[in-house]
Amino acid sequence: MKALITAGGHGTRLRPITHTKNKHLIPIANRTMLSYALEFAAEAGITEAGIIVNQGDTEIEGEFGSGSDLGLKITYIPQEAPLGLAHVVKIAQPFIGDENFIFYLGDNILVGGIRKFIDEFESNGSNCHLVLSKVSDPERFGVPEIEGDKIIGVEEKPTEPKSSFAVTGIYLYDSSIFEAVNNIEPSARGELEISDAHQYLLDNGRNVTFSEITGWWKDTGKASDLLEANRLVLDNLQEERNGTIENSNVTGRVSIGEGSKVIGSTIRGPAILGKDVVVENAYIGPHTAIADGCRIIGSELEYSILMERTSIIDVQTRIESSLIGYDAEVIRGSAKPKSHRLLIGDQSRIQIS
Ligand code: G1P
Repeated sequence: MKALITAGGHGTRLRPITHTKNKHLIPIANRTMLSYALEFAAEAGITEAGIIVNQGDTEIEGEFGSGSDLGLKITYIPQEAPLGLAHVVKIAQPFIGDENFIFYLGDNILVGGIRKFIDEFESNGSNCHLVLSKVSDPERFGVPEIEGDKIIGVEEKPTEPKSSFAVTGIYLYDSSIFEAVNNIEPSARGELEISDAHQYLLDNGRNVTFSEITGWWKDTGKASDLLEANRLVLDNLQEERNGTIENSNVTGRVSIGEGSKVIGSTIRGPAILGKDVVVENAYIGPHTAIADGCRIIGSELEYSILMERTSIIDVQTRIESSLIGYDAEVIRGSAKPKSHRLLIGDQSRIQIS
């Protein structure tokens, strides 16, 4: 079994962060989003993974290299244009060959890994195994129509969904999927839709089985999704206390990286501080991930993700539900007249209250 994992696209709903960073490298609990998918594949016993990247992208390969650190052999497969998920499968055929494979959308975050889905696919002996999750807004996803214990149809983003399930971005296939992706036509939005490939399999008498994710799953398109994924991963955090803690109140599951200093502060977990972080005279509330080299001084921060080397200094209103990129500064100025002075990138979003 091989793994095929997507890491392309433009992450438009996560701008401005994605102006300079591939969405799949945004940190969730201080680890890149894509590292979770790769780790799940390795844990499930997979040794070869293909990662689909945008043509010309070198950032993903720069991060994961040969994959040997993760116990994987990684092949990078460029996609020349965003022509749809079925197109991704099509261009990966030379990499996959005749093997069964798991197709995993790199922006899907779940808890508990993927081994059980592989086991179910293998014990069913089906041609395609879909992983479903109950959602309140199925019209945003591929939606199955289910009769008894069988999927009888799949529609992409239907206006009138035939069930309350989303087809998540975790798919298991044998090589009959290649016949499907080579025989479907682009949709109205000009993409080869993965749901159309699934419908093709059903129309041609192939066996499509499914499992339901009963735990947590999310596709992380928007900032609020990333914050929720961060919360979920932090809820399962392994605590590690390094660095120094002085005159502070640190409660709950809190991980503190090497070289970090917590002085005169309160931290309520779950929260993670990377390496060389300074938290001084500050409050860090639950579900906060602070990457290496950040400084939080005289300020309050909760339910947020801070990327590397960001500073929050003497800000008097608590910052929460925020996603702050690399090398950013949020500081209180003392110059008169008292005003907000902003130097912000394209498509940034600042909410002042
Ligand atoms: C894609 C698929 C959709 C699936 C979803 C899961 O949608 O087309 O069928 O339900 O991923 O994350 P997209 O995220 O490209 O809108």
